[in-house]
Amino acid sequence: MRAWLDKLAEAGELLAVSREVDPRFELAAVTQRAQEAGNRPVLFENVRGSRLRVATNLFADGARLREIVGGADEPFAAAYAKVLDAAEARVDSPQTAVRAPEDLRQGALSDLPLITYHEHDAGPYFTAAIALALDPDTGAPNLSFHRAMYVGPGELRLRLGDSHDLADYQRRAEQAGRELPVALLIGVPAPVFLAAGTHLPPGVNEYALAAELAGKPVEAYPSRHTMLPVPVAAEVVVEGRILPGERRPEGPFGEVLGYYVPEGLNHVMEVDGVAYRRDAIFHSLLCGSREDLALLEAVNAARVYRDLSRRLPGIVDVSCAPAFMNTTVQIRPQYASHARDVMDVVFDSHADYNQLCCVVEEDVNLHDMNAVIHAFITRGRVDARTRVVAGRAGFYRDKEDDFAGRVGLDATRPFGREAEFVSKKVPGLDATRLEDYLARGSRI
Ligand SMILES: Cc1cc2nc3c(=O)[nH]c(=O)nc-3n(C[C@H](O)[C@H](O)[C@H](O)COP(=O)(O)O)c2cc1C
Repeated sequence: MRAWLDKLAEAGELLAVSREVDPRFELAAVTQRAQEAGNRPVLFENVRGSRLRVATNLFADGARLREIVGGADEPFAAAYAKVLDAAEARVDSPQTAVRAPEDLRQGALSDLPLITYHEHDAGPYFTAAIALALDPDTGAPNLSFHRAMYVGPGELRLRLGDSHDLADYQRRAEQAGRELPVALLIGVPAPVFLAAGTHLPPGVNEYALAAELAGKPVEAYPSRHTMLPVPVAAEVVVEGRILPGERRPEGPFGEVLGYYVPEGLNHVMEVDGVAYRRDAIFHSLLCGSREDLALLEAVNAARVYRDLSRRLPGIVDVSCAPAFMNTTVQIRPQYASHARDVMDVVFDSHADYNQLCCVVEEDVNLHDMNAVIHAFITRGRVDARTRVVAGRAGFYRDKEDDFAGRVGLDATRPFGREAEFVSKKVPGLDATRLEDYLARGSRI
């Protein structure tokens, strides 16, 4: 993360805040203002109650994620899909064993910035904590984000969505009556951050993805209490165990969809140790902001692209903007029911996401929902081209069926009648520059 911060600072993008900020609401308010004023990363140098500096808004747009993935000549989803294929096919070890960093210090949870984000949040949260755990059967490391509520010096409460690997690991450990050792990594290199947001099939070592993105193995050392392989570059490591058969109140919390999730019974992590680097920088993430959504949109788009391009022809690109629950697929239509088949694959692609699926052709900018909806309402009967799938399971947070069902909007031109829907164009437009035509004194 330090290398990433240096890069942002060199590019003149990093905003430094040197005056003291209160971790209760003030830090989040400044973060939100920075996002509104151009989405720039911020480094808080002086956070009340902690000696650690706090960085936020580091990975807050598609362009920054693109830098991590590379492959600028092709659509992001296709480029990332290739990296995922390579990570899954990897046979060599993606980790190199190293010694713990020399500047690592042992500390306590209360040393860390305890940041409270929203008015009705139950307390301080770690929002950019990446849980590292090993598959209880195969030992494969998994990385995933899980919000962690601070309740006291030895305890955090974690939210484990049912569809995620950590929930599965925990279930299996619990069935065997065992605790699940876990290390929370806060402030990691960019490739580890992206890998943590990505789902890989069970049994795949998620460091393989980080290594593939970085172009080199992840240097990791056995952590002090749990012996989990922790990246040497991690700024902060919180180690502990998720208790079997134990659930305690967690929340309310203002989470990714922009609303408060109410208090619920969630997992308990007993903390065994906290370690951080000298001059450690803590990563804070405002849930539901672009730093959260850009990541979720990117990883979902790559997953859907892979599922689609393995099963259907003519898949050009996929976008999950806005807000990762939508999926827009760009196709080169091959047959009359092509868009419908695309929707079927998209709806099957994940149990939680892809609530809305729009299908467009290459002449529509799939990242522009205005253009997508324009195509949908101008290229044929809206009733005949809307597909409603009732009762399909929804978002993992769903308790009342609020997220069940899926809707598909076919915004392609009627197959075989494309000539009736050629987008109009003014000849010579490309070569025309408005400033060449304006009278002196008339400004653009
Ligand atoms: C910033 C951020 C916060 C997240 N918070 C949670 C959370 O609190 N609980 C949860 O179950 N999933 C959460 N997720 C989703 C998943 O943990 C994440 O997408 C991860 O990739 C799941 O990986 P897995 O499929 O390998 O388990 C979060 C994702 C992001 C990007």
